[in-house]
Amino acid sequence: MTRTTADTEIIAKAIHLACRAPSLHNSQPWRWVVGPAAVDLFADHERVLRSADRSGREAIISCGAVLDHFRIAMAAAGWQTNVDSFPNPNDRDHLASLDFAPAHYVTAAERDRADAILTRRTDRLPFHAPANWESFEPVLRKTIDHSKAKLDVLADDARPTLAEASRLTESFRRYDEYYHDELHWWTEPFHTYQGVPPDALVLIGDAGYASVAIVGFHSQAGWIGFNLLPAEAAPKIKRIHELMKQNGRNPAEVELGVSPYGKQITPDDLKRYRDLGVEEVTLVLFDLPHTERDLVTVLEQRSETSGGA
Ligand SMILES: Cc1cc2nc3c(=O)[nH]c(=O)nc-3n(C[C@H](O)[C@H](O)[C@H](O)COP(=O)(O)O)c2cc1C
Repeated sequence: MTRTTADTEIIAKAIHLACRAPSLHNSQPWRWVVGPAAVDLFADHERVLRSADRSGREAIISCGAVLDHFRIAMAAAGWQTNVDSFPNPNDRDHLASLDFAPAHYVTAAERDRADAILTRRTDRLPFHAPANWESFEPVLRKTIDHSKAKLDVLADDARPTLAEASRLTESFRRYDEYYHDELHWWTEPFHTYQGVPPDALVLIGDAGYASVAIVGFHSQAGWIGFNLLPAEAAPKIKRIHELMKQNGRNPAEVELGVSPYGKQITPDDLKRYRDLGVEEVTLVLFDLPHTERDLVTVLEQRSETSGGA
């Protein structure tokens, strides 16, 4: 039988640091149990986000991140961690059982890695193309442990397909109320130590001024003004551009979309949206026709009244 020889206080501190690990919507879907002989890590089903993460795979990845951080924190405190993965075949939520052995010394690199946990954060801003990719790629390949991770670099001609898949996913989620409920649940302001702070939200489908501030600072995806005619969208778009400039960002980085939703628009409105910089207008059909033929007729009528949008 193994024994947890490390001091409980050291373990508690390491868990505290490890819990800064990234997790889906910062849901922190893990549960730690510190016993006399071992520290056990479990997946916490109460915290698996079933809409965003139907199979629970991203929760497991998040638990992998917390385990990695925990090992780093213990190493910096002078302890090597032995990991027994999935120790109980009858309990798949029991992800790992850990015990410890004192390390002979702590390297500077181990300390640096633990310090990095406090400064690491998810960057939601759009990425520039990497600088000096040709020399960086071999370094990246060398850094990766190929038994644990795989690096694929997409060829230039595959990128439009990836972009299309990403746009498609976004449009599926745009009107997925369950998903948005879940996201709002995890971005409520009172969650100060868990969940995603509202000011870090990648914004979808809200037209309030708070959300205008959000996109100005953080959004990677863009802004979709909801239920807005051009005159209503104009001051919000102006504010987005102002905020982006104040933060040293180029307004062209954010893709603007609008849905007039229940409001009737004319071909002139479409031109007004375009002049405001709106790239996508989403029209909503409330009474979905029963047959395909009727659907085509309605869409044709819409396209005539909306100037071919
Ligand atoms: C498995 C996994 C999936 C994630 N998916 C997203 C995502 O789709 N979009 C996003 O902005 N952040 C994503 N994140 C980042 C988390 O939202 C972020 O880690 C969490 O809010 C904590 O913030 P921090 O990483 O800045 O500490 C993901 C993280 C993990 C581990």
